[in-house]
Amino acid sequence: MSAILSKENENAQQPDVALTINGLAVNAHTGMTLVEAAWHAGVPRVTSVGCMEGVCGSCRVMLRRGKDVTVGLACQTFAEEGIEVVFMPPASAPRHHYEIGDFKDAWDIHARFQDIFPEASRCRHCHGCDSACPKGITVENGVALAAAGRYRDAGEAFFECVMCELCDVACPELIAPAHVGLFCRRVTAHFHLRPPNLIYRLEELRQERQSVALIESDEEK
Ligand code: SF4
Ligand code: SF4
Ligand code: FES
Repeated sequence: MSAILSKENENAQQPDVALTINGLAVNAHTGMTLVEAAWHAGVPRVTSVGCMEGVCGSCRVMLRRGKDVTVGLACQTFAEEGIEVVFMPPASAPRHHYEIGDFKDAWDIHARFQDIFPEASRCRHCHGCDSACPKGITVENGVALAAAGRYRDAGEAFFECVMCELCDVACPELIAPAHVGLFCRRVTAHFHLRPPNLIYRLEELRQERQSVALIESDEEK
């Protein structure tokens, strides 16, 4: 109880910061994230929020500090004096369609990639995707690796990707770098043996499921 009170006192003592969220002027406490600031101020229609841990990539925001416009994740960005924040709508449905289960032969991956992502070879090296990425991924390099047929390396480049798709929004060639990265991670996993500890755990789960099914069928008799 005293910890809660001291936290409240601490918050009460902290200076407020004034900012705008979705065009509304609001106040927040220093140390609040932009999601917390939005909720604290009762900003309506802030719905694109999930994990609050920088993992789900849902809370995409456009940020303006004076003349400087950037993007980011609202749960990972603190409220600042004077910052203008606009929550972006959820990403639209992907334009690139394929069934990874249809990929039977690794030899034709490159032909398939070029068919699915013909724009990838037209990267204009504007660095827009790198600047947009809140996870610090070298997105442009990942796209270049994929376009060169180095799918495993490209998949590793996108290892920290949370699929916020801010790089897709930033790309003037409509390359959809986030989906290029996802493709690379998928084909790498599809054509390689799973890690031994994962195989072992899946087998344990399969056996547990079989035991439960046996017990349930015995109980029904
Ligand atoms: S690579 Fe693209 S989708 Fe992935 S975290 Fe960075 S900006 Fe988001
Ligand atoms: S934003 Fe698009 S065109 Fe620009 S570097 Fe990234 S992938 Fe290439
Ligand atoms: S709410 Fe999941 S990344 Fe911000």
